[in-house]
Amino acid sequence: MLLKEIKTIYHKELDALYAREEVASFFCIAIEHYLNLERFVLAMQPDKIISKEEEQPLFETLAQLKIQRPIQYIIGETRFMELDFIVNEGVLIPRPETEELVRWVIDDVRNVKCESRRRNASKETTAIKNARVQILDIGTGSGCIAVSLAKNLPNTEVFALDVSEQALKVAQANALHNNVSVSFTTADILTLQELEGSFDVIVSNPPYVRELEKKEIESNVLEHEPGLALFVPDDDPLLFYKKIVQFAEKNLNKKGSLFLEVNQYLGIETKALFETTIWTAIQLRKDMFGNDRMLMGTLK
Ligand SMILES: C[S@@+](CC[C@H](N)C(=O)[O-])C[C@H]1O[C@@H](n2cnc3c(N)ncnc32)[C@H](O)[C@@H]1O
Repeated sequence: MLLKEIKTIYHKELDALYAREEVASFFCIAIEHYLNLERFVLAMQPDKIISKEEEQPLFETLAQLKIQRPIQYIIGETRFMELDFIVNEGVLIPRPETEELVRWVIDDVRNVKCESRRRNASKETTAIKNARVQILDIGTGSGCIAVSLAKNLPNTEVFALDVSEQALKVAQANALHNNVSVSFTTADILTLQELEGSFDVIVSNPPYVRELEKKEIESNVLEHEPGLALFVPDDDPLLFYKKIVQFAEKNLNKKGSLFLEVNQYLGIETKALFETTIWTAIQLRKDMFGNDRMLMGTLK
């Protein structure tokens, strides 16, 4: 069959389920992943002959897209912060909003490090120069936050925890795949009081979607992504944030910072958990879609 004929079949079968551009993008992802054909080949060689053997994974992908399985789970990988991450149904697919949170942490750690270097310039010792920032990622899932931070901030020591053993296996594979060192721990943040060591930065994208928001969620997310990673009860939607803020108050070093991804409808309420007697420099930021999405505070 010709490349363009298979593309036509994708549109015929999927255009009723997804936007046309999305179907075109699925097709490009599939040919890139299974046939190692870059996107431009489709434009340059639409009449390229695809063998029966090569066709097979493209049609298997099509069948799975028809039942709305996310393309990232079908091919078993995704991109985040310009890195490749392995994903499966045991982990949330990393979102672009979370990249914004990671960039904020990277900028902040680099700035704080520069500032303390400047302050200490005259009395700079080897110990100060080599001091490694300790970072903890709570609810690491695929490890996308922890691994990206370790990759972009070489002078740090990164720790990560999750309650899901299945997620931690994926996160470990991602650290290996991206050639970084992250220390992973199985722990339930709802009951955890302390961890060994203390941290300069704690970051988390915990579950925050209320049951009442389920109707806003696409069925490919609802049916395929892990509920454990997404949902919180309607009567206690800030459950994780309350625990994480308390945990950070005990386990952050003085002047350490907490970074959180938040529910867009609960930004103000989440911000209110940072008591101003303990926290300073509290900032609520919007994501690229203009929704309240990221929160940060520094211990006094
Ligand atoms: C919204 S996902 C975030 C995953 C990943 N950090 C990201 O940004 O894509 C929340 C994560 O919290 C984990 N989680 C849920 N309940 C938890 C608990 N009680 N203690 C620790 N982690 C938990 C889930 O397994 C999931 O991996």
